Amino acid sequence: GAAVEVDISALKPGEKVTVEWRGKPVWIVKRTPEQLAELSKLDGQLADPKSERKPSELTPEYARNEARSIKPEILVAVGICSHLGCSPSDKFQTGAQPSLPDDWKGGFLCPCHGSTFDMAGRVFKNKPAPDNLEVPPHMYLSDTRLLIG
Ligand code: FES
Repeated sequence: GAAVEVDISALKPGEKVTVEWRGKPVWIVKRTPEQLAELSKLDGQLADPKSERKPSELTPEYARNEARSIKPEILVAVGICSHLGCSPSDKFQTGAQPSLPDDWKGGFLCPCHGSTFDMAGRVFKNKPAPDNLEVPPHMYLSDTRLLIG
């Protein structure tokens, strides 16, 4: 079996853990209420805010919502940029930082060619990466046990 089981009981708001699934890094991020509240304000800046592109490859039906997740606070995403496959870095702090958009509200920055993603892995417009990060197939075995794959 290629599925990976993960206990997320120790994950605190604002934290991320990475597990390997089929040789790919899968991020599990527990978003803060503030990070979740930002998601609804970003649509106009995003290339595919409703995750309508390549739905069968990138976003399972149960994650085709604004938070791209089953539980609103928990993001599960493959940490591989949709441009040329680098792994984006965490940029969870808000506020001015060099090389980030002025109105940056936190998310992920690809170090290779500067694509930026929000806290739901949705790509910002006018960046080389064409698509949102992949949400892998996953389900909850209990409130704190996640099965990926
Ligand atoms: Fe991420 Fe090019 S590989 S921006």
